[in-house]
This record gives sequence, C-alpha cells and structure tokens, in this order.
Amino acid sequence: MIDDLPAGLKARQLAVTDHPRVLAVLDEWWAGLKGQEGSRERALLLPRLYFQHFTTTSFLVEDDAGRVAAFLVGFLSQTDPEAAYVHFVGVDPVLHGRGVGRALYQAFFDLVRAHGRRCVQCITSPQNMASQAFHTRLGFTSSGVQADYDGPGLDRVTFTIDLSTKPAATP
Ligand SMILES: CC(C)(COP(=O)(O)OP(=O)(O)OC[C@H]1O[C@@H](n2cnc3c(N)ncnc32)[C@H](O)[C@@H]1OP(=O)(O)O)[C@@H](O)C(=O)NCCC(=O)NCCS
Repeated sequence: MIDDLPAGLKARQLAVTDHPRVLAVLDEWWAGLKGQEGSRERALLLPRLYFQHFTTTSFLVEDDAGRVAAFLVGFLSQTDPEAAYVHFVGVDPVLHGRGVGRALYQAFFDLVRAHGRRCVQCITSPQNMASQAFHTRLGFTSSGVQADYDGPGLDRVTFTIDLSTKPAATP
C-alpha cells in the first residue's frame, strides 16, 4: 500500500480499533510537548470519529510485531474540491529520519491526486520545530505564526503545498 517504507514495516488503512492504540503513543511520540496542556490538546485532536469516518484517506503503519510505528490522519476537503488536509501525523521516535513520514505524505499525495485534489494543507503549533522543518523539507510553504488561529491563545503555523508542482511517486 505504501512504497518506500523501511523493511519490516507495513501500512494499511486506519481502523476504529486503532483509536486507543494511537492515543496511547501520543505523549511519548510528541515528547510531552507543551506539558499537560499539550497532552490534553493532542488527545482532543483525535476523537474516535477520525477512526470511523476518515479511514479511507488515513494510514496506520505497524512493525513486524504488530506495534504501531506511524500514522497519518487525513481527509478530502468537503468544501474545497481542489484541497485535501493532513490532520495529524506521527512516527515512532525510534524510526525518525528514515523516510517514514515522507513515505506517508507521498502516499497521501498520490491518493488525493487520484481524487482530483491539487493542494494539501495542514497546521502545526509554533513550538513544534521538528514538524515545521519536516513540512518545509517536503516542499510545503509556511504562513509563519498566526495568532489565535484555532481560538484564543491557540497560535498555529499553516502549511500548504501545490501538488501540480510536485512529481507523483507512482504512474
Ligand atoms: C515530524 C515527523 C512526522 C517526521 O517524520 P520522519 O519519519 O522522521 O521524517 P522523514 O525521515 O520522512 O524526513 C523527511 C524529511 O524531513 C526532514 N526532517 C524530518 N524531521 C526533521 C527535523 N526534526 N529537523 C529537520 N529536518 C527534519 C528529513 O531530514 C527529511 O529530509 P530529506 O528526505 O530531504 O533528507 C516526526 O518527527 C514525528 O512524528 N514527530 C512527532 C510528531 C509530530 O510533531 N507530528 C507533526 C505535527 S502534527
């Protein structure tokens, strides 16, 4: 389903039974970013509905032992017929820097292109420097910090990429 994953890793569509498994890794994978408040924010960003109604545009990666190794939760915009959105992505820290995040995004780009989408958007918090570096490296354009983007005190950096300027991985 996803090319270019390191040996021993396998991807599939997300399933509802993955919900507690993904929630269980968030704090460790985000290294406790923004403390208790960050932990609560992250859990609230992934309610069960994403594992029920967005499965066909979301991926879970598992290792040989069936452990969660990475995930990407994304969807096609309901409003903009040219857009798709990556809501949440995470890779097990032991696998960082091995191309897993890039492979997940490439698979998402291919999938949403097949649905006629031209642009992909996502956001991250201003404190998440790794995420900002990663998205910039993948070719996303950053908005810079937007104050109160997600509500009072919830500043965000938005990212967008135009897929028509990026080659598809698969024919
Ligand atoms: C951000 C994250 C998904 C990146 O995943 P990854 O599998 O380590 O990334 P990749 O190995 O595919 O890297 C892709 C490119 O981004 C660059 N990159 C990744 N993390 C980086 C970092 N922390 N600093 C600088 N560049 C980075 C890589 O060097 C690579 O560039 P290259 O292919 O040109 O060499 C991962 O660090 C993560 O899960 N972080 C915690 C959760 C999080 O912050 N998620 C995103 C916000 S919702």
